[in-house]
Amino acid sequence: MRPAWIEIDLTAIADNVHRVLSVLGHQRKLLAVVKDDAYGHGAAVIAQVAHSCGAHMLAVAFVEEAVELQPACPEAEILILTPVPADAIETAVSCGFHVSLADRAGPGLLSAAAVRQGRAAKVHIKVDTGMHRLGVPAAQVGEYCSRLKLLPGLEIRGIFTHFASSSDDPQFTTEQFECFQQACRDADAALGYSIPLKHCANSGATVRYPEMWMDAVRPGALLYGIPRNRGGVYMPTMQQALTVKAKIASLKEVPVGETVGYGRTWRAARDSHIALLPIGYGDGYDRLLSNNADVLLRGRRVPVVGAVAMDSTTIDVTGVGDVRVGEEVVLIGDQGGESVTVAELAERCQTIVHEVAVRLDRRLPRVYTCQPGDERVEGLISAEGSVASSAPA
Ligand SMILES: Cc1ncc(COP(=O)(O)O)c(C=O)c1O
Repeated sequence: MRPAWIEIDLTAIADNVHRVLSVLGHQRKLLAVVKDDAYGHGAAVIAQVAHSCGAHMLAVAFVEEAVELQPACPEAEILILTPVPADAIETAVSCGFHVSLADRAGPGLLSAAAVRQGRAAKVHIKVDTGMHRLGVPAAQVGEYCSRLKLLPGLEIRGIFTHFASSSDDPQFTTEQFECFQQACRDADAALGYSIPLKHCANSGATVRYPEMWMDAVRPGALLYGIPRNRGGVYMPTMQQALTVKAKIASLKEVPVGETVGYGRTWRAARDSHIALLPIGYGDGYDRLLSNNADVLLRGRRVPVVGAVAMDSTTIDVTGVGDVRVGEEVVLIGDQGGESVTVAELAERCQTIVHEVAVRLDRRLPRVYTCQPGDERVEGLISAEGSVASSAPA
Protein backbone atom coordinates (compact mmCIF):
# COMPACT_ATOMS: atom_id res chain seq x y z
CA MET A 1 0.00 0.00 0.00
CA ARG A 2 1.07 3.55 -0.67
CA PRO A 3 2.83 4.94 2.43
CA ALA A 4 0.31 7.77 2.73
CA TRP A 5 -3.26 6.91 3.56
CA ILE A 6 -6.53 7.81 5.29
CA GLU A 7 -7.80 5.80 8.23
CA ILE A 8 -11.49 5.96 8.98
CA ASP A 9 -12.64 4.80 12.38
CA LEU A 10 -16.08 3.26 11.93
CA THR A 11 -16.54 2.96 15.68
CA ALA A 12 -16.33 6.76 15.82
CA ILE A 13 -18.97 7.08 13.08
CA ALA A 14 -21.27 4.60 14.82
CA ASP A 15 -20.77 6.35 18.17
CA ASN A 16 -21.48 9.75 16.61
CA VAL A 17 -24.70 8.46 15.04
CA HIS A 18 -25.75 6.97 18.39
CA ARG A 19 -24.93 10.19 20.23
CA VAL A 20 -27.11 12.23 17.90
CA LEU A 21 -29.95 9.72 18.05
CA SER A 22 -29.82 9.46 21.82
CA VAL A 23 -30.24 13.24 22.16
CA LEU A 24 -32.97 13.40 19.52
CA GLY A 25 -35.10 10.81 21.29
CA HIS A 26 -37.72 8.62 19.66
CA GLN A 27 -39.83 11.39 18.20
CA ARG A 28 -37.24 12.76 15.79
CA LYS A 29 -35.34 11.15 13.01
CA LEU A 30 -31.86 11.43 11.56
CA LEU A 31 -31.25 12.01 7.86
CA ALA A 32 -27.54 11.27 7.43
CA VAL A 33 -25.91 13.38 4.73
CA VAL A 34 -23.47 11.18 2.81
CA LYS A 35 -23.02 13.26 -0.33
CA ASP A 36 -19.63 13.66 -1.99
CA ASP A 37 -18.62 10.16 -0.98
CA ALA A 38 -19.64 10.84 2.61
CA TYR A 39 -17.43 13.91 2.78
CA GLY A 40 -14.53 11.80 1.59
CA HIS A 41 -15.08 9.00 4.12
CA GLY A 42 -16.53 6.53 1.59
CA ALA A 43 -20.28 6.74 1.06
CA ALA A 44 -20.99 3.02 0.76
CA VAL A 45 -19.55 2.01 4.09
CA ILE A 46 -20.58 5.14 5.98
CA ALA A 47 -24.13 4.72 4.70
CA GLN A 48 -24.18 1.14 5.94
CA VAL A 49 -22.96 2.19 9.38
CA ALA A 50 -25.40 5.11 9.63
CA HIS A 51 -28.33 3.01 8.41
CA SER A 52 -27.60 0.05 10.66
CA CYS A 53 -27.15 2.39 13.64
CA GLY A 54 -30.62 3.87 13.14
CA ALA A 55 -30.44 6.71 10.62
CA HIS A 56 -33.90 7.01 9.08
CA MET A 57 -32.71 8.11 5.66
CA LEU A 58 -29.54 8.90 3.71
CA ALA A 59 -29.14 12.12 1.76
CA VAL A 60 -26.97 12.75 -1.30
CA ALA A 61 -26.70 15.67 -3.69
CA PHE A 62 -27.16 13.99 -7.06
CA VAL A 63 -29.09 11.11 -8.59
CA GLU A 64 -25.81 9.55 -9.74
CA GLU A 65 -24.66 9.38 -6.12
CA ALA A 66 -27.93 7.73 -5.14
CA VAL A 67 -27.62 5.15 -7.92
CA GLU A 68 -24.07 4.31 -6.83
CA LEU A 69 -25.03 4.08 -3.17
CA GLN A 70 -28.15 1.97 -3.42
CA PRO A 71 -26.50 -1.44 -4.04
CA ALA A 72 -24.39 -1.03 -0.88
CA CYS A 73 -27.39 -0.11 1.22
CA PRO A 74 -30.48 -1.48 -0.56
CA GLU A 75 -32.76 -1.25 2.46
CA ALA A 76 -32.15 2.46 3.05
CA GLU A 77 -34.36 5.28 1.88
CA ILE A 78 -32.28 7.81 -0.07
CA LEU A 79 -33.12 11.48 -0.51
CA ILE A 80 -31.63 13.43 -3.41
CA LEU A 81 -31.14 16.98 -2.15
CA THR A 82 -31.04 18.78 -5.51
CA PRO A 83 -33.61 18.53 -8.31
CA VAL A 84 -33.18 15.55 -10.62
CA PRO A 85 -32.52 16.50 -14.28
CA ALA A 86 -35.30 15.57 -16.69
CA ASP A 87 -33.32 12.75 -18.30
CA ALA A 88 -32.81 11.00 -14.95
CA ILE A 89 -36.33 11.24 -13.58
CA GLU A 90 -37.39 7.78 -14.79
CA THR A 91 -34.39 6.32 -12.95
CA ALA A 92 -35.10 8.26 -9.79
CA VAL A 93 -38.69 7.02 -9.71
CA SER A 94 -37.90 3.41 -10.61
CA CYS A 95 -35.19 3.26 -7.91
CA GLY A 96 -37.64 4.60 -5.34
CA PHE A 97 -35.51 7.57 -4.36
CA HIS A 98 -36.96 10.55 -2.52
CA VAL A 99 -36.70 13.46 -4.94
CA SER A 100 -36.48 17.16 -4.11
CA LEU A 101 -38.90 19.50 -5.84
CA ALA A 102 -37.58 23.01 -6.20
CA ASP A 103 -39.03 24.43 -9.40
CA ARG A 104 -42.11 24.58 -11.61
CA ALA A 105 -41.13 21.91 -14.15
CA GLY A 106 -40.23 19.08 -11.77
CA PRO A 107 -43.67 18.07 -10.47
CA GLY A 108 -45.21 17.47 -13.91
CA LEU A 109 -42.25 15.40 -15.10
CA LEU A 110 -42.18 13.33 -11.92
CA SER A 111 -45.91 12.78 -11.98
CA ALA A 112 -45.77 11.59 -15.60
CA ALA A 113 -42.93 9.17 -14.79
CA ALA A 114 -44.81 7.87 -11.76
CA VAL A 115 -47.96 7.26 -13.79
CA ARG A 116 -45.98 5.59 -16.59
CA GLN A 117 -44.27 3.27 -14.13
CA GLY A 118 -47.36 2.64 -12.04
CA ARG A 119 -45.57 3.55 -8.82
CA ALA A 120 -45.57 6.55 -6.54
CA ALA A 121 -42.85 9.16 -6.77
CA LYS A 122 -41.71 10.16 -3.27
CA VAL A 123 -41.06 13.87 -3.07
CA HIS A 124 -39.74 16.48 -0.62
CA ILE A 125 -40.49 20.15 -1.30
CA LYS A 126 -37.36 22.29 -1.07
CA VAL A 127 -38.24 25.76 0.25
CA ASP A 128 -36.12 28.85 -0.28
CA THR A 129 -36.17 30.76 3.00
CA GLY A 130 -33.31 33.11 2.28
CA MET A 131 -30.37 31.19 0.90
CA HIS A 132 -31.58 32.17 -2.59
CA ARG A 133 -29.81 29.29 -4.23
CA LEU A 134 -32.46 26.69 -4.76
CA GLY A 135 -36.05 26.04 -3.81
CA VAL A 136 -39.62 27.18 -4.11
CA PRO A 137 -39.88 30.75 -2.72
CA ALA A 138 -41.40 30.45 0.75
CA ALA A 139 -44.29 32.79 -0.07
CA GLN A 140 -45.35 30.59 -3.01
CA VAL A 141 -45.35 27.25 -1.18
CA GLY A 142 -49.12 27.22 -0.56
CA GLU A 143 -49.96 27.80 -4.20
CA TYR A 144 -47.24 25.31 -5.27
CA CYS A 145 -48.78 22.63 -3.07
CA SER A 146 -52.26 23.32 -4.43
CA ARG A 147 -50.88 22.44 -7.86
CA LEU A 148 -49.04 19.36 -6.55
CA LYS A 149 -52.30 18.07 -5.13
CA LEU A 150 -53.76 17.87 -8.61
CA LEU A 151 -50.94 15.72 -10.01
CA PRO A 152 -51.33 11.94 -9.87
CA GLY A 153 -48.57 9.68 -8.61
CA LEU A 154 -46.85 12.10 -6.23
CA GLU A 155 -46.41 11.11 -2.60
CA ILE A 156 -45.38 14.17 -0.61
CA ARG A 157 -43.14 12.73 2.06
CA GLY A 158 -41.21 15.79 3.19
CA ILE A 159 -40.60 19.50 3.11
CA PHE A 160 -37.26 21.13 3.91
CA THR A 161 -35.10 24.20 3.78
CA HIS A 162 -31.41 24.88 4.20
CA PHE A 163 -29.73 27.45 6.42
CA ALA A 164 -27.23 29.94 5.10
CA SER A 165 -25.39 30.66 8.35
CA SER A 166 -26.53 28.34 11.12
CA SER A 167 -23.11 28.29 12.81
CA ASP A 168 -22.62 32.00 13.14
CA ASP A 169 -25.76 34.07 12.52
CA PRO A 170 -28.51 33.27 15.04
CA GLN A 171 -30.71 36.13 13.90
CA PHE A 172 -30.80 35.19 10.23
CA THR A 173 -31.13 31.50 11.11
CA THR A 174 -34.13 32.29 13.30
CA GLU A 175 -35.66 34.38 10.51
CA GLN A 176 -35.18 31.51 8.06
CA PHE A 177 -36.70 29.08 10.54
CA GLU A 178 -39.77 31.25 11.14
CA CYS A 179 -40.18 31.67 7.40
CA PHE A 180 -39.95 27.88 6.99
CA GLN A 181 -42.52 27.24 9.72
CA GLN A 182 -44.96 29.54 7.91
CA ALA A 183 -44.25 27.76 4.61
CA CYS A 184 -44.95 24.42 6.31
CA ARG A 185 -48.29 25.72 7.62
CA ASP A 186 -49.17 26.98 4.14
CA ALA A 187 -48.20 23.63 2.60
CA ASP A 188 -50.23 21.60 5.10
CA ALA A 189 -53.24 23.88 4.66
CA ALA A 190 -53.10 23.62 0.86
CA LEU A 191 -52.69 19.85 0.92
CA GLY A 192 -55.24 19.22 3.63
CA TYR A 193 -52.87 17.04 5.68
CA SER A 194 -49.61 17.38 7.56
CA ILE A 195 -46.48 16.59 5.54
CA PRO A 196 -44.84 13.87 7.63
CA LEU A 197 -41.18 14.88 7.51
CA LYS A 198 -40.33 18.53 8.05
CA HIS A 199 -36.60 19.09 8.26
CA CYS A 200 -34.16 21.96 8.23
CA ALA A 201 -31.31 21.40 10.70
CA ASN A 202 -27.85 20.89 9.24
CA SER A 203 -24.96 20.32 11.67
CA GLY A 204 -24.81 23.94 12.82
CA ALA A 205 -28.51 24.02 13.67
CA THR A 206 -28.53 20.49 15.08
CA VAL A 207 -25.91 21.49 17.60
CA ARG A 208 -27.33 24.90 18.49
CA TYR A 209 -31.10 24.96 18.06
CA PRO A 210 -33.15 22.06 19.43
CA GLU A 211 -36.31 24.00 18.56
CA MET A 212 -35.31 23.56 14.90
CA TRP A 213 -34.99 19.78 15.02
CA MET A 214 -38.61 19.42 13.84
CA ASP A 215 -39.36 15.87 12.58
CA ALA A 216 -35.77 15.15 11.55
CA VAL A 217 -32.29 16.66 11.56
CA ARG A 218 -30.07 16.57 8.48
CA PRO A 219 -26.42 16.80 9.50
CA GLY A 220 -23.34 15.78 7.57
CA ALA A 221 -20.20 17.23 9.15
CA LEU A 222 -21.37 16.47 12.68
CA LEU A 223 -21.56 12.73 11.99
CA TYR A 224 -17.96 12.70 10.83
CA GLY A 225 -16.91 14.64 13.93
CA ILE A 226 -15.20 17.35 11.93
CA PRO A 227 -16.70 20.63 13.18
CA ARG A 228 -14.73 22.21 15.98
CA ASN A 229 -15.73 20.24 19.09
CA ARG A 230 -18.60 22.00 20.75
CA GLY A 231 -19.61 19.52 23.40
CA GLY A 232 -21.94 20.86 26.03
CA VAL A 233 -24.20 22.82 23.69
CA TYR A 234 -27.19 20.63 22.75
CA MET A 235 -25.20 17.73 21.37
CA PRO A 236 -22.38 15.82 23.08
CA THR A 237 -18.87 16.05 21.70
CA MET A 238 -18.43 14.03 18.52
CA GLN A 239 -15.33 12.13 17.59
CA GLN A 240 -13.39 12.89 14.41
CA ALA A 241 -13.39 9.63 12.45
CA LEU A 242 -10.74 10.54 9.94
CA THR A 243 -6.96 10.30 10.33
CA VAL A 244 -4.41 11.05 7.61
CA LYS A 245 -1.04 9.37 7.96
CA ALA A 246 2.18 9.06 5.98
CA LYS A 247 5.49 7.30 6.51
CA ILE A 248 8.69 9.28 6.29
CA ALA A 249 10.12 8.60 2.82
CA SER A 250 13.57 10.17 3.23
CA LEU A 251 15.68 12.36 5.50
CA LYS A 252 18.04 15.15 4.65
CA GLU A 253 20.47 17.33 6.54
CA VAL A 254 20.05 20.94 5.52
CA PRO A 255 22.83 23.32 6.64
CA VAL A 256 22.01 26.66 8.23
CA GLY A 257 21.17 29.28 5.57
CA GLU A 258 20.01 26.79 2.92
CA THR A 259 16.44 26.79 1.60
CA VAL A 260 13.92 23.98 1.13
CA GLY A 261 11.44 23.34 -1.65
CA TYR A 262 9.73 25.23 -4.47
CA GLY A 263 9.98 28.98 -4.30
CA ARG A 264 12.61 28.69 -1.53
CA THR A 265 10.00 29.81 1.00
CA TRP A 266 11.80 28.37 4.04
CA ARG A 267 15.40 28.95 5.07
CA ALA A 268 17.13 26.92 7.78
CA ALA A 269 17.90 29.07 10.80
CA ARG A 270 20.15 26.29 12.13
CA ASP A 271 21.58 23.06 10.83
CA SER A 272 18.33 21.13 10.32
CA HIS A 273 16.98 17.63 9.82
CA ILE A 274 14.28 17.66 7.19
CA ALA A 275 11.97 14.68 6.56
CA LEU A 276 10.04 14.13 3.35
CA LEU A 277 6.44 12.85 3.51
CA PRO A 278 5.05 11.25 0.33
CA ILE A 279 1.84 13.26 0.34
CA GLY A 280 1.10 16.65 -1.16
CA TYR A 281 -1.51 18.98 -2.54
CA GLY A 282 -2.31 16.39 -5.21
CA ASP A 283 -3.70 14.34 -2.33
CA GLY A 284 -5.67 17.27 -0.96
CA TYR A 285 -3.12 18.44 1.60
CA ASP A 286 -3.53 22.11 0.76
CA ARG A 287 -0.68 24.29 -0.50
CA LEU A 288 -1.90 26.93 1.95
CA LEU A 289 -0.42 24.68 4.63
CA SER A 290 3.08 25.50 3.35
CA ASN A 291 5.01 26.82 6.38
CA ASN A 292 1.58 26.91 8.06
CA ALA A 293 0.80 23.58 9.74
CA ASP A 294 2.09 21.03 12.19
CA VAL A 295 2.14 17.28 11.85
CA LEU A 296 2.52 14.76 14.66
CA LEU A 297 5.64 12.67 15.08
CA ARG A 298 6.24 10.61 18.23
CA GLY A 299 3.26 12.36 19.81
CA ARG A 300 4.60 15.86 19.36
CA ARG A 301 4.00 18.66 16.88
CA VAL A 302 6.62 19.31 14.23
CA PRO A 303 6.24 22.04 11.61
CA VAL A 304 5.66 21.78 7.89
CA VAL A 305 8.50 23.74 6.29
CA GLY A 306 8.73 24.95 2.71
CA ALA A 307 6.06 24.72 0.07
CA VAL A 308 3.72 21.74 0.01
CA ALA A 309 4.37 20.11 -3.39
CA MET A 310 2.02 17.97 -5.49
CA ASP A 311 3.38 14.68 -4.14
CA SER A 312 5.41 15.61 -1.10
CA THR A 313 5.59 17.72 2.02
CA THR A 314 8.69 18.53 4.06
CA ILE A 315 8.76 18.73 7.84
CA ASP A 316 11.43 19.94 10.24
CA VAL A 317 12.35 17.10 12.61
CA THR A 318 15.41 18.78 14.09
CA GLY A 319 15.71 17.91 17.76
CA VAL A 320 13.15 15.11 17.69
CA GLY A 321 15.93 12.55 18.06
CA ASP A 322 17.02 9.68 15.91
CA VAL A 323 14.20 9.90 13.35
CA ARG A 324 14.11 7.05 10.84
CA VAL A 325 12.77 6.50 7.35
CA GLY A 326 9.46 4.64 7.60
CA GLU A 327 8.32 6.30 10.82
CA GLU A 328 4.65 7.13 10.91
CA VAL A 329 3.53 10.75 10.89
CA VAL A 330 -0.03 11.98 11.48
CA LEU A 331 -1.07 14.92 9.31
CA ILE A 332 -4.67 14.95 10.53
CA GLY A 333 -5.75 13.12 13.67
CA ASP A 334 -4.39 12.10 17.07
CA GLN A 335 -1.04 10.74 18.15
CA GLY A 336 0.08 10.46 21.76
CA GLY A 337 -1.85 13.14 23.58
CA GLU A 338 -1.66 15.58 20.67
CA SER A 339 -4.14 16.18 17.94
CA VAL A 340 -4.40 18.03 14.62
CA THR A 341 -8.05 18.38 13.73
CA VAL A 342 -9.77 18.98 10.41
CA ALA A 343 -11.07 22.18 12.02
CA GLU A 344 -7.52 23.37 12.73
CA LEU A 345 -6.47 22.87 9.12
CA ALA A 346 -9.65 24.55 7.88
CA GLU A 347 -8.80 27.58 9.98
CA ARG A 348 -5.23 27.63 8.69
CA CYS A 349 -6.52 27.46 5.10
CA GLN A 350 -9.29 29.98 5.79
CA THR A 351 -11.91 27.54 4.63
CA ILE A 352 -14.54 25.28 6.18
CA VAL A 353 -14.13 21.76 7.53
CA HIS A 354 -16.24 20.36 4.71
CA GLU A 355 -13.73 21.44 2.08
CA VAL A 356 -10.71 20.04 3.94
CA ALA A 357 -12.41 16.64 4.19
CA VAL A 358 -13.81 16.35 0.67
CA ARG A 359 -10.60 17.51 -0.96
CA LEU A 360 -8.67 14.53 0.39
CA ASP A 361 -7.97 12.80 -2.88
CA ARG A 362 -9.06 9.34 -3.91
CA ARG A 363 -5.43 8.43 -4.65
CA LEU A 364 -4.95 8.16 -0.89
CA PRO A 365 -5.92 4.61 0.04
CA ARG A 366 -8.68 4.41 2.65
CA VAL A 367 -8.23 1.99 5.51
CA TYR A 368 -11.23 1.28 7.71
CA THR A 369 -10.68 0.55 11.38
CA CYS A 370 -12.82 -0.06 14.44
CA GLN A 371 -12.48 -0.81 18.10
CA PRO A 372 -11.80 -4.53 18.56
CA GLY A 373 -15.07 -6.36 19.13
CA ASP A 374 -17.29 -3.56 17.86
CA GLU A 375 -20.05 -5.76 16.47
CA ARG A 376 -21.86 -2.82 14.93
CA VAL A 377 -19.17 -2.37 12.30
CA GLU A 378 -16.47 -5.02 12.35
CA GLY A 379 -18.30 -7.20 9.84
CA LEU A 380 -17.92 -4.41 7.29
CA ILE A 381 -14.14 -4.44 7.42
CA SER A 382 -11.77 -7.02 5.96
CA ALA A 383 -8.56 -7.98 7.77
CA GLU A 384 -6.59 -5.47 5.66
CA GLY A 385 -8.91 -2.63 6.53
CA SER A 386 -10.67 -2.46 3.20
CA VAL A 387 -14.42 -2.68 2.99
CA ALA A 388 -15.65 -6.22 2.94
CA SER A 389 -18.56 -5.44 0.62
CA SER A 390 -19.04 -3.97 -2.84
CA ALA A 391 -18.15 -0.49 -1.60
CA PRO A 392 -15.42 1.38 -3.49
CA ALA A 393 -11.98 0.97 -1.96
C1 LIG B 1 -29.28 20.60 1.69
C2 LIG B 1 -28.23 20.21 2.68
N1 LIG B 1 -28.61 19.70 3.86
C3 LIG B 1 -27.72 19.33 4.80
C4 LIG B 1 -26.37 19.48 4.58
C5 LIG B 1 -25.41 19.07 5.66
O1 LIG B 1 -24.63 20.17 6.10
P1 LIG B 1 -23.57 19.98 7.27
O2 LIG B 1 -22.50 19.09 6.74
O3 LIG B 1 -23.06 21.34 7.52
O4 LIG B 1 -24.28 19.38 8.40
C6 LIG B 1 -25.93 20.02 3.37
C7 LIG B 1 -24.49 20.21 3.15
O5 LIG B 1 -24.01 21.09 2.52
C8 LIG B 1 -26.89 20.40 2.40
O6 LIG B 1 -26.52 20.93 1.22
